[in-house]
Amino acid sequence: MRSSALSRAAHTLLVSTLTNELRESNPKLLMVGAGGHARVLQELLAEAGIALSGYVAPADGSSLLVGDLQRYDEAELVSGEGDLDPIDFLLVNGIGSAGPITARARVYAQLKQAGFNFLQLDAQTAHISESALLSEGVQVLHKAVVHTDARIDENTIVNTGAIVEHHNVIGANCHIAIGAVLGGMVEVGDNTHVGANATVLQGVKIGSNCIIGAGAVVTRDVPDNQTAIGVPAVARANGGQQ
Ligand SMILES: CC(C)(COP(=O)(O)OP(=O)(O)OC[C@H]1O[C@@H](n2cnc3c(N)ncnc32)[C@H](O)[C@@H]1OP(=O)(O)O)[C@@H](O)C(=O)NCCC(=O)NCCS
Repeated sequence: MRSSALSRAAHTLLVSTLTNELRESNPKLLMVGAGGHARVLQELLAEAGIALSGYVAPADGSSLLVGDLQRYDEAELVSGEGDLDPIDFLLVNGIGSAGPITARARVYAQLKQAGFNFLQLDAQTAHISESALLSEGVQVLHKAVVHTDARIDENTIVNTGAIVEHHNVIGANCHIAIGAVLGGMVEVGDNTHVGANATVLQGVKIGSNCIIGAGAVVTRDVPDNQTAIGVPAVARANGGQQ
């Protein structure tokens, strides 16, 4: 039976994402970003008894994270200068989005390229089917559901209370925002934001680089590079949100 965020994280550490060397190295956990989403994840980790060692953010930015945490520059990690060896760290992507998901996707790609790994984490109150497949860096927040045989690619957020129904296939770097409902057999491409409380009817296919507005009801397929808003949702080209 599936249980807490801690056991899910441990499971991920043991069986999927990470190398043997990393398992043995007891890595330091770093939050990437220091805004609202980062703070939510920090609290979620604390609920599972997991403390951050530090965070990655610009020196001139403000931080909503709590506690006395060491700060690292993204450039330090990406350049490999100093004593920072990726094997010593495990990252949590704390960058959220309210539309274009560009910043979250860019940071994940750069830090993966530099050799870092990202934690896959689930809130203790999330329900994730045993048959669902979640890739590296996926985050499932409180009261969210990922149902039977759903597949979610790397670095995607399933935010608080969102429902990803059976046999959904969700791409990389997506944000299924708070309260969004995706009916069975829905497909979503990469880098797509599905807005708060949006509803996507069963079997609908949404492309890559799309934005589905908050509260939209998506009744028809949405091609790549479109923004769709309203009830029923009407789509228009967005020029590619990347
Ligand atoms: C769709 C969205 C990306 C449009 O953003 P934008 O391009 O900055 O649009 P604007 O705010 O300039 O609004 C443009 C028009 O669209 C309307 N509009 C904006 N969002 C809308 C939505 N979700 N549904 C219906 N109409 C919307 C505005 O009222 C405005 O109408 P007007 O021209 O008649 O005044 C954005 O409003 C949205 O819904 N983002 C998702 C937010 C979200 O999911 N947050 C969750 C974070 S966890």
